[in-house]
Amino acid sequence: AKLGILASGDGSNFEAVAQAIQTRQLNAKIEVLIYNNPDAYVAKRAENSNIPAVLLNHRDYTQREDLDTAIAKTLQQYNVEIVVMAGWMRIVTQVLIDAFPDKIINIHPSLLPSFKGSRAIEQALASGVKITGCTVHLVSLEVDSGKILMQSAVPILPEDTLKTLHSRIQAEEHKILPAAIAIYRLH
Ligand code: GRF
Repeated sequence: AKLGILASGDGSNFEAVAQAIQTRQLNAKIEVLIYNNPDAYVAKRAENSNIPAVLLNHRDYTQREDLDTAIAKTLQQYNVEIVVMAGWMRIVTQVLIDAFPDKIINIHPSLLPSFKGSRAIEQALASGVKITGCTVHLVSLEVDSGKILMQSAVPILPEDTLKTLHSRIQAEEHKILPAAIAIYRLH
């Protein structure tokens, strides 16, 4: 499958997908990375892996829909079949969903439907739950609410900080994101 990846930050999930492809765990090709922050480290990772990277800076677009129109156009130019949001920190609009119906996958750092939104790990820590994790799901207009494709659970330990819990969750993200794409691409 031809993948298009959207990322905003460090890009460790991008890296995990690229590595799964390299080691033949995932039969796919990353056709393009789209990122929205000029200094996002994910762009460096793409450069290191010789993967085309396109900066679409959300600050250049007054309307969210205009950014998504530019994203959809870029993805179509690269013949992308499945869109993977790997730490994409922008709200997706109907424009992108219409362009790739049931073809946009997201990774979220909690066991949805618990702890939706951008502070999922902090919320899990503050809530006193003993188990949390991560979820790969299809993107719908309602944030973090599409069809769940795969999940993995991790314990929250008494001495956990945001940092220690985040790294435990991310280790699982790096496993289930490539695995979920591998299964989903067969649809
Ligand atoms: C991941 O933890 C993901 O769950 C959340 O954003 C983070 C992105 O991390 N949506 P990275 O940029 O892939 O390292």
